[in-house]
Amino acid sequence: MKIKFQSTRLYLWHTFNMKKIIFVVSFLIIISIESIVNITEWSNAFKSSTKYSELLHSKSTEFNSYNDSIVLQTQFDIVLSYYSEDIDFVAQYIRSLRHVLTLKKLNPRIIVYNKNSKVNNSVLKLLLKADIIQLLPNLGREGGTYLYHIINNYDIIANHTIFSQAGVEGITNRGLADWYLDRLDKQFNSSVGYMPLINNNMITNYDCGSHRTGHFPRMVQVWSMLEQSLCPPGGQAVAFRGQFLVSGKRIRDRPLKVYKYLYELITVNSSHWLHRDIRSIFYKSTPDNPIFGHTVERIWTILFKCFKNDLYDRCKRRECACFDES
Ligand SMILES: *[C@@H]1O[C@H](CO)[C@@H](O)[C@H](O)[C@H]1NC(C)=O
Ligand SMILES: *[C@@H]1O[C@H](CO)[C@@H](O)[C@H](O)[C@H]1NC(C)=O
Ligand SMILES: *[C@@H]1O[C@H](CO)[C@@H](O)[C@H](O)[C@H]1NC(C)=O
Ligand SMILES: *[C@@H]1O[C@H](CO)[C@@H](O)[C@H](O)[C@H]1NC(C)=O
Ligand SMILES: *[C@@H]1O[C@H](CO)[C@@H](O)[C@H](O)[C@H]1NC(C)=O
Repeated sequence: MKIKFQSTRLYLWHTFNMKKIIFVVSFLIIISIESIVNITEWSNAFKSSTKYSELLHSKSTEFNSYNDSIVLQTQFDIVLSYYSEDIDFVAQYIRSLRHVLTLKKLNPRIIVYNKNSKVNNSVLKLLLKADIIQLLPNLGREGGTYLYHIINNYDIIANHTIFSQAGVEGITNRGLADWYLDRLDKQFNSSVGYMPLINNNMITNYDCGSHRTGHFPRMVQVWSMLEQSLCPPGGQAVAFRGQFLVSGKRIRDRPLKVYKYLYELITVNSSHWLHRDIRSIFYKSTPDNPIFGHTVERIWTILFKCFKNDLYDRCKRRECACFDES
């Protein structure tokens, strides 16, 4: 009896262990398949970004002084902030934008601000088929780039400009994502004043700088500076990622000095008190990634007066814009 009991226990112990072993082995197999797939993906990504590496990177002995000037006003500009994004990806983004029918008619000009002094601007221009390339110091994230463009071209700013990071959100292997194409092709017209170019789930309301994903107290100060009043309750629309389309009229509705002041703040050096603002214990504000850059990412709707709290609903209804009076 006792022996039988023992052997049953042994048997149970045995099956239990077999199950455990089978489980562990299958787990390991799945993990290794996953890592092989991932490593292939990584190495592919790496390959495409190093394909032009030798061409693209300046010889350290030469000064990268290439700079196209902007002298003419156009109907439509596309301004991209570039650092080290994959060239094939950015080139495809530019091609896709050029293919949008409504934009084609407006003959958009591609302006790329390169913030990586190691990248050869003339090669970058060729690979991206850009019209204009300028080098900028790597300060203030994409917000610094956009403000720089506005300040330097305030009097000749295009009738409409798309501002975007080169590493855009909204592109698939087939080209622009459906929602992105729909905005440009179906919702854009010549009276658009401001239009977010980001997926609806990246549009939300802040309550004077407060949001469940984190607080940005400087937003309230910027609000008060721009609107000359206290920030009222009720929510203000914010669209993340710094991807939007804006009219020249709306840009010039704010005085040049506003952009200059914001640019000064977003590019301050590391000893400035603004870098001591706290976002989280893991984040350190630096001139190339200043905390104020994350504030500026959230104030474009305020700057361009498209902050009514129904923006998200309107975008869902495919009326994703604020319009200028014509
Ligand atoms: C950039 O590339 C061009 C063409 O290959 C070359 O003539 C030029 O010297 C390069 N410039 C720098 C700064 O490396
Ligand atoms: C590049 O050209 C523009 C004129 O369009 C000028 O404002 C800017 O200062 C120039 N940048 C450099 C680095 O020379
Ligand atoms: C900008 O728009 C206005 C009004 O529609 C138009 O008269 C003007 O020619 C446009 N500017 C350019 C550079 O196309
Ligand atoms: C652009 O679309 C808006 C909203 O549908 C409309 O109110 C406006 O009249 C249109 N403007 C032009 C020039 O078609
Ligand atoms: C930062 O800027 C301030 C004011 O312009 C200047 O006094 C200071 O020397 C600068 N610090 C560094 C580290 O460049």
